[in-house]
Amino acid sequence: MESVWTQTCKIPPRASLTHSVEADAAVIGAGMAGVLIASALQSEGRRVVVLEAGRTGSGQTAGTTAKISSQHGLFCSKLIETFGTERASKYAAANQAALAGFRRIITGRGIDCEYEELPSYVFGDDAASLRAEAEAARSLGLPASYTESAPLPIPAAGAVRFENQAQFHPLRFLAAMAEGLEIYENSPVLSVEDGALKTPLAAVRAQQLVFACHFPFVNFPGMYFARMHQERSYIIALENAPLPEGVFIGAEEPVFSLRRSGRLLLLGGGKHRTGENSSGGRYDILRQKAAERFPGSREVAHWSAQDCITPDGTPYIGRFSASRPDWFVATGFNKWGMSSSMVAAMLLPDLMAGRESPNAEAFSPSRFEAEAVPAMAENGAQAVKGLVRRFFEVPDEAAADIRPGRGGIVELGGEKVGVYRDENGAIHAVDIRCPHLGCQLEWNPDELSWDCPCHGSRFDRFGARISGPAQEDIASQP
Ligand SMILES: Cc1cc2nc3c(=O)[nH]c(=O)nc-3n(C[C@H](O)[C@H](O)[C@H](O)COP(=O)(O)OP(=O)(O)OC[C@H]3O[C@@H](n4cnc5c(N)ncnc54)[C@H](O)[C@@H]3O)c2cc1C
Ligand code: FES
Repeated sequence: MESVWTQTCKIPPRASLTHSVEADAAVIGAGMAGVLIASALQSEGRRVVVLEAGRTGSGQTAGTTAKISSQHGLFCSKLIETFGTERASKYAAANQAALAGFRRIITGRGIDCEYEELPSYVFGDDAASLRAEAEAARSLGLPASYTESAPLPIPAAGAVRFENQAQFHPLRFLAAMAEGLEIYENSPVLSVEDGALKTPLAAVRAQQLVFACHFPFVNFPGMYFARMHQERSYIIALENAPLPEGVFIGAEEPVFSLRRSGRLLLLGGGKHRTGENSSGGRYDILRQKAAERFPGSREVAHWSAQDCITPDGTPYIGRFSASRPDWFVATGFNKWGMSSSMVAAMLLPDLMAGRESPNAEAFSPSRFEAEAVPAMAENGAQAVKGLVRRFFEVPDEAAADIRPGRGGIVELGGEKVGVYRDENGAIHAVDIRCPHLGCQLEWNPDELSWDCPCHGSRFDRFGARISGPAQEDIASQP
């Protein structure tokens, strides 16, 4: 199902790239990150071309909850522990500047995008850790306090409150920002060679380029696939539910996220590593919570999205790799991609012009913290698990066991294949080998999709690619 954003905003289409173009900078991806970065570069007088594989705003940005916040869960204590106070303060300052950036652009240009400033809360039952978090946040210069009297839609002992945060309609904002940009849609970048970005019909030659395609699809250099994984979450939109004054996220598992949008309450949760949802039931978790907390409410929409998760919980924004000085990247937003996209739009133009950028150090993709090693090892182990599964795990279902509207992995003609049985009983079989790096795809019954547990690529039930890092469809099996 479409998100409430795509239901209420149709961004005008753009042509594909059919002729070769020269530019100062090329941006790959027209989601929140790509559009904001391109806009910032263009405002410095540079010729910028944006190449988008699908439609503008059709990626994860279409499924966000669109809170604009410098409160990224319970993160300040952890950030100080990992980075030290000085570097953690730079992270906090960059995100506060991002909030101010949204306010300046939206009010300055008069963008009609349901922008609203309100407090943000992280709520929970462990009052001691919430108090400590409020203290840690204040020490980083963030507008934080601990409160036991927040207007919480889900009861809890207390909350960390941040002042002057915001929410908006992400696609209305994006549509306005995209207006003056040179964007080519349905123009996937297939390869990058010697400064030329090749799309199916033509190429862009650019002096500098930015990967703002959510998950960088170039494996080497950079090795972003070893440095992050993807996590999926689900959202239901409820009418006839309370509409609290604030944006909210839980501190404890299972985590629920809430905000209002017009007359609707958006309830998010049910997160899991992408590719690890073979039993399904994620929307049911949300529906149960809604029935328990908001009896009388009615679901009017549901959707899901995913984001890239880094080992230390902070994004990679900066130079793509030491060996490619003209390549830049903005990824690993840890489900805080609104403020992180704006951070990228503020940092990258400085770095690309060779200027000092005071907070860049906190986002450097080349950082390597000892604390990140276990998570990197976990990502590697997950990839090995995905490969081992493909070669050695024997499917325990037969095609005949798959009911209409369901999918699963079966053995057909001596080969392991993914099978989806449509409502008419017809079987659609696909190769369950992920075209990215070969892991075994898993069935996601909540979205009727084939998802990769290694790095999070997704394909629809017939094998068409939904999102990367894989860039190709999976083959159908005869
Ligand atoms: C459930 C959920 C809720 C969230 N809520 C919030 C929130 O409240 N606040 C917040 O700050 N963040 C939130 N986030 C995070 C935020 O939505 C994302 O971080 C952000 O939308 C990512 O934007 P992006 O531009 O990086 O990616 P995308 O929007 O996915 O854009 C990337 C674009 O690149 C294109 N692309 C890919 N490959 C190629 C190629 N080869 N050539 C050309 N184009 C290509 C894609 O088609 C896509 O359009 C949430 C995330 C989830 C999963
Ligand atoms: S996404 Fe990397 S192997 Fe599937």
